[in-house]
Amino acid sequence: MLKSPVKHKVEFNEENFKALLPGYLKKASKQFFTPISIGQIAAQWLTEDKNKSVLDIGAGVGKFCITGAKYNNSFYFGIEYRKSLVTIANNIISTYELTNTTVLHGNIVEIDFMNFDAFYLFNPFYENLSFDNRLNNEVELNGSRYGYYLKHTENQLDKTKSGTRLVTYHGNNFEIPESFKRIKQTEDGSLKLWIKQ
Ligand SMILES: C[S@@+](CC[C@H](N)C(=O)[O-])C[C@H]1O[C@@H](n2cnc3c(N)ncnc32)[C@H](O)[C@@H]1O
Repeated sequence: MLKSPVKHKVEFNEENFKALLPGYLKKASKQFFTPISIGQIAAQWLTEDKNKSVLDIGAGVGKFCITGAKYNNSFYFGIEYRKSLVTIANNIISTYELTNTTVLHGNIVEIDFMNFDAFYLFNPFYENLSFDNRLNNEVELNGSRYGYYLKHTENQLDKTKSGTRLVTYHGNNFEIPESFKRIKQTEDGSLKLWIKQ
């Protein structure tokens, strides 16, 4: 169900969101965090059939979760393995006084996907393969971790129940099991909705 607009002290828009980030993340924001306009479409595609427990796989500073939580009454969980980003995310969630989202500190390999009924994925593991373009040095990144995270995600998605929705933003989609069918995408192909058969 769509939320009726609530007036917050800080209006939710790109400029104000960026202002809540430390300097190095302001610079990285465009490349690593979902634009609000894209997050709104993703949240709609994930939850248009009913309210859900949505998991953002690699939540960063919580931008997708916050966009979704502002947009409708589903609950948006994020899992993020960089502790500093988790702290920033939950501070921003408090700034916007949102009660239907939280970002948890942990690695995706610790998560049982059966606890959720929709998923969002913005190319979280690619950093392991790119040596000159990393968010920060807080976690170890390497090629074998890329394969490990990708396989875990694929296995877990494959266990979800029929009708489970997944939205991907960019990425090579190698972690999507064959049991998920692509249903629609934006004109440029960057945002895709998949449904488990
Ligand atoms: C491209 S950013 C997307 C952030 C957020 N989903 C958004 O759309 O604004 C990917 C995030 O995934 C996190 N990440 C990557 N691998 C992870 C893992 N194995 N467990 C938890 N978080 C991970 C990274 O630290 C990074 O913050």
